[in-house]
Order: sequence, then structure tokens, then C-alpha cells
Amino acid sequence: MSFTNSSLLMGFLLLLSLALIISLSSATDTITANQSISGDQTISSKDENFELGFFKAGNSSNYYIGMWYKKVSTDPPTIAWVANRETPVSDRFKSELKIIDGNLVLLNESKSPIWSTGINSSNSNSVIAVLLDDGNLVLRNGSNSIDPIWQSFDFPAHTWLPGAKIAYNNITGRKQLLTSWKSIEDPAEGLFTLELDPIEKQYIIKWNRTTQYWTSGPWNGQIFSQVPEMRLNYIYNFSYVSNVNESYFTYSLYNPSIISRFIMDVSGQIKQLSWLDSTKQWNLFWSQPRTQCEVYDFCGAFGSCRQSGLPFCNCLTGFNPRSQSDWDLSDFSGGCVRKTNLQCGRTSEKYGFLSISASIARKPPNSTLLSLSSSRECKNRCLNSCSCNAYSYDNTACSIWESELLDLSDSNSNELTIYVKVASKDLPSNKKNNAVIIGAVVGSVVFAVFILGLILLLVYRKKKKFAGKTTVEGSLVSFVYRDLQTATKNFSDKLGGGGFGSVFKGTLPDNSDVAVKKLESVSQGEKQFRTEVSTIGTIQHVNLVRLRGFCSEGNYKLLVYDYMPNGSLDAHLFKDEKCLDWKTRYQIALGTARGLVYLHEKCRDCIIHCDIKPENILLDNDLCPKVADFGLAKLMGRDFSRVLTTMRGTRGYLAPEWLSGVAITMKADVYSFGMMLFEIISGKRNSEHSENRKIKYFPMHVANVVIGGDDVLGLLDPRLNGEAKGEEVIKLCKVACWCIQDDEENRPTMSQVEQILEGVLDVNMPPMPRSLKLFVDNEDDVVFFTESSSSQSNPSSGVSQAKSVSMN
Ligand SMILES: *[C@@H]1O[C@H](CO)[C@@H](O)[C@H](O)[C@H]1NC(C)=O
Ligand SMILES: *[C@@H]1O[C@H](CO)[C@@H](O)[C@H](O)[C@H]1NC(C)=O
Ligand SMILES: *[C@@H]1O[C@H](CO)[C@@H](O)[C@H](O)[C@H]1NC(C)=O
Ligand SMILES: *[C@@H]1O[C@H](CO)[C@@H](O)[C@H](O)[C@H]1NC(C)=O
Ligand SMILES: *[C@@H]1O[C@H](CO)[C@@H](O)[C@H](O)[C@H]1NC(C)=O
Ligand SMILES: *[C@@H]1O[C@H](CO)[C@@H](O)[C@H](O)[C@H]1NC(C)=O
Ligand SMILES: *[C@@H]1O[C@H](CO)[C@@H](O)[C@H](O)[C@H]1NC(C)=O
Ligand SMILES: *[C@@H]1O[C@H](CO)[C@@H](O)[C@H](O)[C@H]1NC(C)=O
Ligand SMILES: *[C@@H]1O[C@H](CO)[C@@H](O)[C@H](O)[C@H]1NC(C)=O
Ligand SMILES: *[C@@H]1O[C@H](CO)[C@@H](O)[C@H](O)[C@H]1NC(C)=O
Repeated sequence: MSFTNSSLLMGFLLLLSLALIISLSSATDTITANQSISGDQTISSKDENFELGFFKAGNSSNYYIGMWYKKVSTDPPTIAWVANRETPVSDRFKSELKIIDGNLVLLNESKSPIWSTGINSSNSNSVIAVLLDDGNLVLRNGSNSIDPIWQSFDFPAHTWLPGAKIAYNNITGRKQLLTSWKSIEDPAEGLFTLELDPIEKQYIIKWNRTTQYWTSGPWNGQIFSQVPEMRLNYIYNFSYVSNVNESYFTYSLYNPSIISRFIMDVSGQIKQLSWLDSTKQWNLFWSQPRTQCEVYDFCGAFGSCRQSGLPFCNCLTGFNPRSQSDWDLSDFSGGCVRKTNLQCGRTSEKYGFLSISASIARKPPNSTLLSLSSSRECKNRCLNSCSCNAYSYDNTACSIWESELLDLSDSNSNELTIYVKVASKDLPSNKKNNAVIIGAVVGSVVFAVFILGLILLLVYRKKKKFAGKTTVEGSLVSFVYRDLQTATKNFSDKLGGGGFGSVFKGTLPDNSDVAVKKLESVSQGEKQFRTEVSTIGTIQHVNLVRLRGFCSEGNYKLLVYDYMPNGSLDAHLFKDEKCLDWKTRYQIALGTARGLVYLHEKCRDCIIHCDIKPENILLDNDLCPKVADFGLAKLMGRDFSRVLTTMRGTRGYLAPEWLSGVAITMKADVYSFGMMLFEIISGKRNSEHSENRKIKYFPMHVANVVIGGDDVLGLLDPRLNGEAKGEEVIKLCKVACWCIQDDEENRPTMSQVEQILEGVLDVNMPPMPRSLKLFVDNEDDVVFFTESSSSQSNPSSGVSQAKSVSMN
């Protein structure tokens, strides 16, 4: 009986929803007093940019009222706004969104209101809700009224759409901010917020609404000092408004056909994304903070953040995730808990200390500082205190953590050793008495001899196998996976991690050193992979890293390159202990240009590198530069030859057209090369030029100096003590400025760059292009390269002809 009843009910509901679908026939943008949204019904904005209805986040069974991009067809849809973030429903057919007493209200399965626009209005029957094409859901008093009585733009979720505000209300003190989702499956408010700081006119990101861990730096009307690439007059028209009632940032897009958004991500980073129609993907233009471990307490209590490699978060030894299911969804905020609780009051033998290293610069917060004269005293203090979780000792300063240990991240410099109190049985090895230790020592010597013998035997056999199983395709060697495992000592010596996988050092049986790149998630079939690899194998040039061979066994896809003993350029430029002289720097610039000319113009299928930066320029024995990591895009089964996705490119080196959704050309490499030239000149990252706390964006500074005809040698890396050829410095500065034009048409080709650096094109250096629109320095001087100031008629004039216009 009940079966029939429920079937009837279901049928009725189905009919009802059908009727409603018809009544809301083909995409209306309005909910009026007599309509409601339920089940799979939606409303769409007039031009179908956005759609509003129930959606499900991930695999959870919770439903939310949300708004998503309609033209941007991702699976799952890209959610731009969520109404009932904290109060999901489980049956969307029995829940409805409708207008009640002048408010938009969400009723749950038992018709109780669980979310509302919450306006105190006089029971107006004329109130309607309209979804606008900019992604704003507005409540209006009658279809003719313009001013909204409520709008979703005032209550953003994690997405900041063009036209919306990040605001601070000076009257009520209310902040209008972005809040991350709790996890990828849970739109409830997470721990990370992007807020406005009206005093300093900047954005800040906070953890748990209290701890600030990132700032954009003050807005000077043109740029944010710490994020110079987020500037006025390129793609975004930012504006800052401040009056007695409120302060806010807002932005619009100069080209309305670009679909772009900012999000406060679950990763704790603010991300700027643009839709690329050609790849059907969101392209990440930049994110801040730059690395995951810079996000405050990303891994929770007793979790440790890993700078390179996945997973980002690991619990310390002796700890487990508080919630494995949250952890699996990359929600690490719950942190880790002890496997075995500390039994307070017992003797010290039940505890041990786990030593971990953290960066001194980012010492975990909430320690108590004691002045004690020895490390032993410090340790005893911790042992004898029930609430002590960890201690560290540094030159009479004893730090004791009684609270949970937060914000740990691995580090390789400036180490601080922290000793974490852990139950003995959770420590990796227990203390043994002396007899056992002696036994163990004798045992291990015998064992070691045995192992040595075994290794020798294996090496001998391996050598034979290398010769036997190795096949040659063209000039490339096809390696057996096990041999590469041996050569790299089971991938133990990691040289670095790039966009496509990690690189390990290895030694082949012939004693030659190689760099073995282990590719991650190759989606190509065997045959195609081999074809692509042999294509890359044919690309040989003195300024490109040579591919020696590869391995393709099932899921294992590896590439074997020549090993470069001098590492990558960044280590030489940015680390104090090494310093390249000017001549070498100039040769590196020229060699890199030659390598790129070859990739762009001389090989059979032209290759856009897409990720030129000092990390990808390797140096051989003679400090001759070799471009690394080219041609991998196609290998990974994605066609990057025309356009890009989130995989490629590095913030700070990315040409602005990456954001615009147009096809990428070789000029994107030219831009990145230009950005790298600045760093070769200065020996610092472009984004790290600070003077008196103020950040000076180096490329802008260079442009100003070059235009002003000022002392160019002053731009040099101070470690060079001014020892450089002035004319070469000027040349590099000019070329660098020329390479980073906003408009790719105005950038030189790599072969022009090569010729200029060689001195061949010196006399005919083309005019400084027009569109280096706006450079700003810290004195608030605005320098324009105006249309008229670029002199087509006087090609040799270069930069110096451009006029500087001072505002104010
Ligand atoms: C809503 O329905 C009532 C009764 O069915 C009708 O009187 C009223 O005009 C309708 N309102 C609108 C806005 O359609
Ligand atoms: C959702 O479920 C599918 C299939 O059960 C699974 O493959 C996928 O990994 C799940 N997604 C998440 C985010 O858990
Ligand atoms: C609907 O919401 C009310 C009030 O929050 C709650 O008491 C009730 O249990 C909810 N109904 C269902 C089916 O969840
Ligand atoms: C609506 O009125 C209630 C009580 O009258 C008040 O607490 C609330 O703050 C008001 N809400 C708004 C948005 O004005
Ligand atoms: C809506 O308009 C009606 C008539 O113009 C007015 O009586 C009512 O107060 C208005 N309601 C709101 C919330 O502004
Ligand atoms: C965030 O702060 C609240 C108090 O404001 C506190 O109750 C909560 O535990 C904090 N969350 C975390 C993860 O520390
Ligand atoms: C930039 O935004 C401001 C303020 O919103 C507006 O007045 C101005 O017209 C916009 N400029 C352009 C070129 O769209
Ligand atoms: C905010 O209001 C206070 C007084 O309420 C005023 O002193 C201050 O100048 C206002 N802020 C701005 C930015 O106008
Ligand atoms: C500030 O708010 C008051 C009251 O709403 C309004 O009269 C005034 O015009 C507002 N001032 C500005 C600068 O918007
Ligand atoms: C750490 O200290 C801050 C401020 O000193 C406090 O707000 C926070 O709750 C503390 N965290 C823990 C885990 O005790």
C-alpha cells in the first residue's frame, strides 16, 4: 500500500515539477511572487551567462542554491556564488526557493526557512528576484525599479566577479569579503578570507579571521606594491573608492568578452583565473601567496607542509589526521592528533622527543620564551610539564609550546630544531640497552658485508642487462625502468621538481651522469609517446639540454637528459655564495636567446617553450646555458602548441596575453625572456626589490632609468661592484624593456634579440614600441611611453626618445 502511495506521490511531484518547469519555461531570469525554484529547475540570466538553481558539491549528498557559469561549460559547473553555504538540503525536489514577504527564502524539505535575504520590508507583493548577466542576483521592488533592495554582490562567497566589491563599511563596520570553501565538497565558510584593509588601501588574507599571512601591499592608484602584475590599464580596470560611508575595491574588464574571476581558494591562496575557450579550461594567471607552504597553518596542528611534492601535508611521526575523510578531500584544517595520548604524571621514560626542523624565519607561533642556560634544562622543563608539547633551544632561549604546534613547514635553510614530545611507542625506534646495541652493531657489520656482496653481484648483472635490453631509437636510448631505478639509487637524489614531474640525478654504468625526469600523469598511448620523444630527440642545439633517452613501461614514463653539473641559473643569480661575472651573464643571455631562436624558428615543428625562467636555464661545466624542459607539453598529451592551460608558466614571467584567452605565440617566450634579463642584470627576483620596506618593481625602475638616461650601472647586481661593460648593460636593459611590451606585436622576435645581443643589429635597433603604457615608480611618478613619443622615423633612437610625463 505504502508503495502505491509513494509512487503516486512521486508521480504527483514529477507532474508538479514538470508544470513548474513549463511555467518557468525556457530560461527566464526572474523569480516572481508566484514562482519558485525546486528540483532541477533553474533560472538563467538574459544572455545566458549565469544560471541559478540547486547544485551538488562533489560526491556529497548535500544540495545548495548556487549560481554557476552557463556558457563556460565545465564538469562540474564552475560555481560563482552560493546562497545557503552553511545549511544544505538533501532533497532538492522537496525544497524550494521562493519569494515570501518580500524576501527570497529557501525552504527545506519540511518547508522551514533555512536561508533568506533577510530584509525588513513591508510585506511587498511586488518584490522580484532577477539574475543579471554580470552574475548579480538582485531583489527589486517591482519590475520597473532599478535600485536593488538586496543583491548577491553584497554577499560574495569565494568568487569576486567583475563589478562586485571587496568593501569595508565605515558606518556599520561590516566587511564584505571573500571566504574560501571549507573543502572542495563543502561550500561552508572555510578558514581563509580575503579582506580589505581600508587604512593601508590593500588586500589582506587572513586565517580564521585573525591571523594575517599575506598582503597585496598598498594600492598607489596604479599597482599594488607587492603584486605589480595586478595593475591598472592592462586587463583589469581596478578602482579604489573611499568616502565617509565606505571604502572598496572594484574592477571591470576592458574587454568584456574575457571571462575572468578571482577566487579565495580552499588552498588559502587568492587565484586569478581566465577562461580559455580554445582549451575549455580555466587558466590560472597567478596565485598568492606563491607557494602552498606560505599559507598560514595550511596543514593544521602537528601537520607539516611540504614545499615540493605531493601531498602537501603530512602528520608528524606519531600523529594521525584528526579526520581522515577531511584529509582525503584536502581539507587539512583539522590537523593531526597523537596516536597515543601523553600520560601525564608518568615517568619520562614513556616519552621521547622527535626532532624536526623548521625555518627560523617562520617559527611556529604561540611558544613561551624562557631564559635557561642549557638545552638540557629546557628539555627537562618540557618533560616535567604535562602541557608541554614541544621545545626548542637556541642560545639561552628556550621556547616551550604548550598549545598545539601550528604552521610547520619543511625548510632547507636557516634551520631551527624543534623537539616534539611523543609517546615512546610512537617513535620510530626505541632505546635499547647496551648489550642489544653491541649485538646490533656486530649484526649490522655482518649484514653490511653481505649487502655489499649482493650489490656487487647485482651491479655486475645489471651491467650485463643494460647492454642486453637497451634498444636504440634514432639517437635515443630506450632504457629499462629497473636500470634507471638502479642508476638513480631508487630515485634518491632529487635535483628538482618541475611542471611535469621530478628530476633525479643518476649515474649510468659507463659512469656518465644523467638527470632522470620522472613524468607525472602522462595521458598518451605508448606509440604516440615514442613518436613525440623521438621528435624531441631530434632537437639538438648547443644551447638546449640534450635528451639522451627515455623509458616507457606501463605507467612509468621517464626521460633521461645530460646532467648539468652547474645546476640552474637561479642558484647562481639569487644565492649569495655564487656570483657570475658580467661577461658570463651576457653570454648566458645570448646563449639562451640562441636556444630559443632554434626552438622557435629552426626546428621542424616550432616549439613555444612557455616556461622560460632561471630555473629552466641549466649551466654546463663551462657555464654555457642550456634551455631545459622544452617540448614536454605535447608529450604529456596536451596540445600546448597554440594555447596553454594551468600546467605551464610561472607567475612573474608570464606574458599578459596568457590571461586574455587568445592563442599564445612565441612572443610569450620573448616576454618571459625579457623578465629573466632583468634578473640577470640585478641578481634579484624582479618582485623582490625592496628599499625601505617599499617594493620597487624592478622592470619599471629600469625603464625609468633608461628613459631618463640616468646611471644605468646603478641597476647592476651590487656584487659585481660595477664591473661591467656599460654599453652591454644598456643594451640588455633596452632589450629587456622591449621584450616585456604588453602588446606582443611590439615585442621583438627571438632572432632580433639574438642579433642585437650579438651586435649585428646594433645600429638599426628598432624603435621602442608604443605600448609600454604605464610605468610607475615609488615616488608616484607616472611615466608613459606615449604614442607620439615612439619615433618610427628615427629607428636608432631606441628608448631614450620616449618622453616621460610626470603626473601630479
Ligand atoms: C499571484 O497569484 C495570485 C493568485 O493566483 C494573483 O492574484 C496574483 O496576481 C499573482 N501575482 C503575480 C505577480 O503574478
Ligand atoms: C567521487 O566519486 C567518484 C566515483 O565514486 C570517484 O572516482 C571520485 O574520486 C570521487 N571524488 C571525490 C572528490 O571524492
Ligand atoms: C528543516 O529546517 C528546520 C529548521 O532548521 C529543522 O528543524 C528541520 O529538521 C529541517 N528539516 C529537514 C527535513 O531537514
Ligand atoms: C530587521 O529587524 C530586526 C528586528 O526588528 C533587526 O534585528 C535586524 O537587524 C533588521 N535587519 C536589517 C537587515 O535591517
Ligand atoms: C515597494 O514598493 C511599494 C509601493 O511602491 C512600497 O509600498 C513598499 O514599501 C516598497 N517596499 C520596499 C521594501 O521598498
Ligand atoms: C578559529 O577561531 C575560533 C574562535 O574565533 C576558534 O573557536 C576556532 O577553534 C579556531 N579555529 C581553528 C581551526 O583554530
Ligand atoms: C574604469 O573604471 C572606472 C570606475 O569604475 C570608470 O569610471 C572608467 O570609465 C573605467 N575605464 C575604462 C576605460 O573602462
Ligand atoms: C570613517 O568614519 C570615521 C568617523 O566615524 C571618520 O573619522 C573616518 O574618516 C571615516 N573613514 C573614511 C575613510 O572616511
Ligand atoms: C553616506 O551615507 C549617507 C546616509 O545614507 C548619505 O546621505 C550620504 O550621501 C553618503 N555619502 C556618500 C559620500 O556617499
Ligand atoms: C595563538 O595565539 C594567538 C594570539 O596570540 C591566539 O589568538 C590563538 O588562539 C593561539 N592559538 C592557539 C592554538 O593557542
